Amino acid sequence: MDLTGTRALVTGGGGGLGRHISLALAGAGADVAVTWLAREGGAARVCADVRALGRRAMALRLDVTDAAAIEAVVAEVAAAWGGLDILVNNAGRGRPVLPGESKPREVAYGDIAALTPELYDLLMAINTRGPFLLARAAAPFLRASGRGRIVTIGSTIGFAPRESGLAFAMAKAGAVPLTRYLAAVLAPEVLVNCVAPGLIEGTGLTGGASEAYIEDWRGKAVLGRTTRAEDVAAQVLAFCQGESATGQTVVVDAGIAFH
Ligand SMILES: NC(=O)c1ccc[n+]([C@@H]2O[C@H](COP(=O)([O-])OP(=O)(O)OC[C@H]3O[C@@H](n4cnc5c(N)ncnc54)[C@H](OP(=O)(O)O)[C@@H]3O)[C@@H](O)[C@H]2O)c1
Repeated sequence: MDLTGTRALVTGGGGGLGRHISLALAGAGADVAVTWLAREGGAARVCADVRALGRRAMALRLDVTDAAAIEAVVAEVAAAWGGLDILVNNAGRGRPVLPGESKPREVAYGDIAALTPELYDLLMAINTRGPFLLARAAAPFLRASGRGRIVTIGSTIGFAPRESGLAFAMAKAGAVPLTRYLAAVLAPEVLVNCVAPGLIEGTGLTGGASEAYIEDWRGKAVLGRTTRAEDVAAQVLAFCQGESATGQTVVVDAGIAFH
């Protein structure tokens, strides 16, 4: 499918992976609205780069735990551009900051007691409920578009919990049934897929990771390296351009999940 003139919303589009996804879509002819939560500058830079590719761009603040804000942001983009064709559920966080606290709680992998109900619920709200509510809000516009697409960013963490712990793994695993559900109920107008990356170096999520941690991921991959953000973005783009795949989750992880 030719994406020229499509209108895309990329949540967390100013972040490390979101930037690559936004620019891949713009390079293929889409206008791109990106959302940000704390880092407005990243979103502004992506917008400038999208415009340099000749496409329209806008940046909007969005907390995906806020259901009303999700409705408002989707409606704002659709009103500004006369509709919406593509939703990329990219926003996510493995170590969120709890209300009233100033920095993320450090929870050791094996520390069951430290994974409190509040932290568990927040991880679910960001990484599973948010993508569902975005799809729910966008569905009428995507159905009307004729070129409707949803791509959600999962994670290999969703198949095998690692250091970021159980709740993040549960939340990311939710992207798989979410994708199958949406693909079924929004067919035939909207195609819905998921990309599950392995560790991507240098994003907000992994920027503070130690070299030993990253080396451990490299060692577990049959390709001997981490995942390139460009390759994840290329898979997102392929799902948006394709006309036959729906309900699928593709792992892009340099070969970790199967050994
Ligand atoms: N990096 C990896 O190794 C890796 C591996 C597998 C999957 N992923 C997934 O890839 C996606 C992008 O992550 P990334 O690695 O690019 O990290 P990142 O640079 O931190 O990007 C995360 C984005 O999500 C936004 N965000 C976080 N919490 C939010 C909330 N409550 N409401 C709205 N937006 C929120 C952030 O906004 P602000 O920056 O403005 O706060 C940021 O734009 C995530 O879904 C992540 O789980 C990453």
